[in-house]
Amino acid sequence: MPEASSPQASAGTAAAPPRVLSGIQPTADSFHLGNYLGALRQWVSMQDTHDAFYCVVDLHAITVEHDPALLRRRTKVAVAQLLAMGLDPDRATVFVQSHVPEHAELAWVLSCLTGFGEAGRMTQFKDKSSKQGTGGTSVGLFTYPILQAADILLYSPDPTQGERALRVPVGEDQRQHLELTRTLAQRFNHRFGDTFVPPEAHIPAGAAKITDLQEPDAKMSKSASSPQGIIDVLEEPGPMRKKIMRAVTDTGSDVVYDEEKKAGVTNLLRIYSALEGTSVQDLERRYEGSGYGQFKKDLAQVVLDTFTPIRERTLKLLDDEEQLDRLLAKGADRACEVAAATMETVRERVGFVRRGR
Ligand code: TYM
Repeated sequence: MPEASSPQASAGTAAAPPRVLSGIQPTADSFHLGNYLGALRQWVSMQDTHDAFYCVVDLHAITVEHDPALLRRRTKVAVAQLLAMGLDPDRATVFVQSHVPEHAELAWVLSCLTGFGEAGRMTQFKDKSSKQGTGGTSVGLFTYPILQAADILLYSPDPTQGERALRVPVGEDQRQHLELTRTLAQRFNHRFGDTFVPPEAHIPAGAAKITDLQEPDAKMSKSASSPQGIIDVLEEPGPMRKKIMRAVTDTGSDVVYDEEKKAGVTNLLRIYSALEGTSVQDLERRYEGSGYGQFKKDLAQVVLDTFTPIRERTLKLLDDEEQLDRLLAKGADRACEVAAATMETVRERVGFVRRGR
């Protein structure tokens, strides 16, 4: 058994705030409403109560075929949107995954602890690979959840230095990946000594799965939704309003929450409730007898009021790319500090020989 002491000194002491880590892929020209309500809004609020690490996961983005110039652009746009939503580089470590090479290194070590069958049971992999066929499915897509586990566990507090949580704000679709991460953390600890805190998924109650505006039984998704089904954060006000007005509702005219019989209205109620901070019951009361039209019109205004300032700030931030690069360099420095310390512990515990001087 390795000794209890570890070089993860920068992970802090018992008095240090809990850690939070999350990531998002730069695979679209804009984030969407599901990303915002399922995850990103929580990222912003948690920076005040947690030692926060947030990354744009460009290594994950190349698990499907991609265009290099587009990836570079989308990575910058992703960072600008995060800052525009309120992430503050002085309060949170915002960085690009590929700037911290330890992510890929830890992913290798964890992949050697993951069963082939275990990885094959990941439902997101099964969905994506069945759409692309075996020929178009990369090994990277198969091992994607292990890289995600590495993203999280690199920022684990040192469990030997007192109790300190590791929280991961994500939407419902990431629950299984978080379970795998917990399993791998426990397996590593069991085999090599206490090294990782098993992370807790932090999934919002009302907005964990925002659905497609045209297919209210399917998740709003950048890869699967039609343009009419998805609300982009950076969307112009006109089209944004139109999409909400044209969202599929159900026969009848009552604004009531009913997941089974009224999936469309229920999704819109959830969005409204989450954005305005009003309970679903209060909204039902407010729109009693007024029909879908007024309800959708007001909801469109609430969505516009939320996203218009974010869009404007994003565009402004993108005007000064050098400043964005400087902020990312600062984020990478801080992330590397923690990641390097964790990896040093991992290398020692796994049995790699320390490099001589
Ligand atoms: P990604 O890039 O697909 O999505 C980013 C976040 O948005 C959430 N989300 C949704 N929430 C509610 N309703 C929706 N319709 C919806 N669509 C997306 C996702 O749950 C996610 O939280 N594998 C991750 C990226 C990742 C990661 C990590 C996350 C890589 N490493 C480490 C956490 C920790 C993903 O594909 O997210």
